[in-house]
Amino acid sequence: MKKMILDLDTGVDDTLAISYALGSPEVELIGITGTYGNVLLEQGMRNDLAITDLLGHSEVKVYPGLPHAEKADSFSVLPVSEFIHGKNGIGDIEIPDSSRRPESQSAVDFIIDAVKTYGDDLVYVPTGPMTNIAAALRKAPEIKDRIGKIVLMGGALTVCGNVSAWTEANISQDPDAANELFRSGAPVTMVGLDVTLQTLLTYKETKRWRDLGTKASTFLADMTDFYIKAYETTSPHLGGCGLHDPLAVAVAIDPTLVTTLPINMQVDVDGPTRGRTIGDNTRLNDSHKSMQVAVGVDVQRFLDEFMTRISRLAEQAG
Ligand code: BDR
Ligand code: CA
Repeated sequence: MKKMILDLDTGVDDTLAISYALGSPEVELIGITGTYGNVLLEQGMRNDLAITDLLGHSEVKVYPGLPHAEKADSFSVLPVSEFIHGKNGIGDIEIPDSSRRPESQSAVDFIIDAVKTYGDDLVYVPTGPMTNIAAALRKAPEIKDRIGKIVLMGGALTVCGNVSAWTEANISQDPDAANELFRSGAPVTMVGLDVTLQTLLTYKETKRWRDLGTKASTFLADMTDFYIKAYETTSPHLGGCGLHDPLAVAVAIDPTLVTTLPINMQVDVDGPTRGRTIGDNTRLNDSHKSMQVAVGVDVQRFLDEFMTRISRLAEQAG
């Protein structure tokens, strides 16, 4: 069975990503590495522990990542993130704190050890800034040739950004780290706004969770309704909320859900387009393309998998 690590800034859609992973028999979630973004690092890890408890998976360990970008002194949550994900990151829905605590091993060391242990069988899915994986690649560059694959949520190649015309939120938090990853030669699939804004959830689906009537399903319905409501203000043209992070998990499990473009990518780190994800001109003629960018998605098949897997998990969790 494939082993999966999720690197999360937990967040509503990060919570749905955890749910998708735990609802998928093809993979074992061997750990969550914490990052910052939708919430501060500490709040994200608190959420990870509480959510995995609620979903009946207290065996999932949480490892503390870096609290901000290497080139920054600190990190503060943007007001727009609070508006979309709530002050607590999970739609301001209260769930009990876990009695567990994050591990003492750092996220960076956990990632490096996991690559050395599982190699090709390991898939790493970052759905926040790329700060932790960039630090791991700096500390142990050899892992780029040993990891199975990295499937990230972030970036926008064929559409505009969601923070500015050219920048997507996860990349914007730490463009330097994302650029290190993109240029590292590691096998990366980018699942960006190109496809995640095509996979939308509505109140019709969350009602199905509410009708299940379990604690877990009611939490998922209430939390996701908060997120859908925020999208009605920020992106009224969409008619639902973007399933960004769970789509990355789904693609990590079943790459045939998307069509991809093989391309060597970079992230602009200087000048006015800082944070833009774009092809790297200097590697245009390299016959080896280390990255794949998702540009098309089988929307209905993904939504069916999403509802089946998460509903089953929420029912079993009680
Ligand atoms: C990404 O930014 C975060 O707000 C979401 O959790 C997702 O990972 C979408 O741009
Ligand atoms: Ca996220």
